[in-house]
Amino acid sequence: MNIYQKCVESANYIKGIANGNYTDQYDTTSDAIGIILGSGLGNLADEVEDATVISYKDIPHFPMTNVIGHAGRMVIGKLNGVKVICMQGRFHFYEGYDMKIVSMPVRVMKLLGIRSLIVTNAAGGVNRGFDEGTLMVIDDFINFMGDNPLTGANIEEFGTRFPDMTLALDNKLKKLAFETAEELNIHLKKGVYMSFRGPNYETPAEIHFAEVVGADAVGMSTVPELLVARHANIPTLGISCITNMAAGITGKELNHLEVEAVAKRVNNEFKSLIKLLITKM
Ligand code: HPA
Repeated sequence: MNIYQKCVESANYIKGIANGNYTDQYDTTSDAIGIILGSGLGNLADEVEDATVISYKDIPHFPMTNVIGHAGRMVIGKLNGVKVICMQGRFHFYEGYDMKIVSMPVRVMKLLGIRSLIVTNAAGGVNRGFDEGTLMVIDDFINFMGDNPLTGANIEEFGTRFPDMTLALDNKLKKLAFETAEELNIHLKKGVYMSFRGPNYETPAEIHFAEVVGADAVGMSTVPELLVARHANIPTLGISCITNMAAGITGKELNHLEVEAVAKRVNNEFKSLIKLLITKM
């Protein structure tokens, strides 16, 4: 079974569960906004109304996820009156999964009929103008993971062999994010996200390298998802929560609990931004 067929089976299972409660023709997933919630940002999904909650372990072809800070479930319903499909937790390359598996949920959401996608993550700040707690719109990215989910036979059902990346992140959505942030008095930055394989945090020398090549933030996720989203022509917005300054920038050592703690601290800002933003999308 190829990835496309696996995605179809996953999507059909999810549709069956999510629409099962509705006797009419109401379709809970088509035209929804997909939201992937990163480390420490997952509790936005707790605010979804009329929620159908599906554990990843129950979805055909989805792997298990065990990372601290990741719940591992899909929450389908309405947020602020807008149809959403929230991924509470994601799959990471460093967990040992193939990139095609890591990025599979985005393709499943495409089959479920999402009209746009918001991807979020916790990231280390490389730009010295950033601080712990800074929210950054992903303006562009550098794939430094040494792999790509689009390798192998092209899946024509999703998109073309050589997808453009000039507009990988949607300009209209970026603009909307800044307008919404201004309305809420939230200070939003923008920058280039560079993805490393992990699971270790980068060395100070690697962060120096990232800085020299033009990265503003570093992380271990998101890029596989952005690649398949662009391939499948899904208008996408990326938001990084800078949970720490990256290795060597301040000299402080890094640990996951502090990363989570900072993500939790900016949670309210982050949630109000997303909740208002989706009403304008
Ligand atoms: N590096 C990589 N990933 C991260 C970091 C970091 O400093 N902080 C949060 N995720």
